[in-house]
Amino acid sequence: MTPMPFDRRIKIAPSILSADFARFGAECRAIEDQGADWVHVDVMDGHFVPNLTFGPAMCAAIRPHIAGVMDVHLMIAPVDPYIQAFADAGADIITAHLEAGPHIHRTLQAIRATGKKAGLAINPGTGIDGVEHLLDMVDLICVMTVNPGFGGQKFIHSQIAKVRSLRAMIGDRPIHIEIDGGITTETAPLMARAGADVLVAGSAVFKGGSVDAPDVYGANIRAIRQSAESALPGTMA
Ligand code: DX5
Ligand code: ZN
Repeated sequence: MTPMPFDRRIKIAPSILSADFARFGAECRAIEDQGADWVHVDVMDGHFVPNLTFGPAMCAAIRPHIAGVMDVHLMIAPVDPYIQAFADAGADIITAHLEAGPHIHRTLQAIRATGKKAGLAINPGTGIDGVEHLLDMVDLICVMTVNPGFGGQKFIHSQIAKVRSLRAMIGDRPIHIEIDGGITTETAPLMARAGADVLVAGSAVFKGGSVDAPDVYGANIRAIRQSAESALPGTMA
């Protein structure tokens, strides 16, 4: 497992949902070479969300091409029957949705039991009340800033206040706040200021680039990071 010391520095996690599906290995290497902190893998089942992507076999296939953190976002229901398969595939973080079933507490226990970091994702329509009693069981909370299912959607601004409240609720606990959906150089600073530290970005990282033109990925990643960091207290914006 990749060692993951906790910190609240801004981390950029490109979503390979926006990568070239015929070249996942090369795409993972390219984004890491170009400064990506984590690689975000969006698993969709055509049931919990209206789209289908990939499963544990694909995660296992790309694992050797990722030197750092493989961040697996499960948009599937049920979750529990597949946790061990994603752990065996080499995920470092396994994130399940609070809305995916009636027993998220059990699901988080099952993820932690594999030795992996446990993430909890919440949809734009879900409040943070249900998160409070799970805080001691999670390493990451993923706030969806689009309705899950597709890349390239518009950022939902009402989630900014949610992130601010969540940041206050977390206090000193070592829990990452991850934002997923519609992150650009315009929205990243809003989320960094509200208290997020992990920014997932699909279209904004991959737009204009390719494995043959990876410098574009680097420029996109740097632009998102700089926009976010410039919004943090103590930084001259
Ligand atoms: C949405 C996925 C996101 C998405 C982000 O269901 O979880 O990770 O791919 O894509 P962009 O950055 O294009 O909104
Ligand atoms: Zn995601």
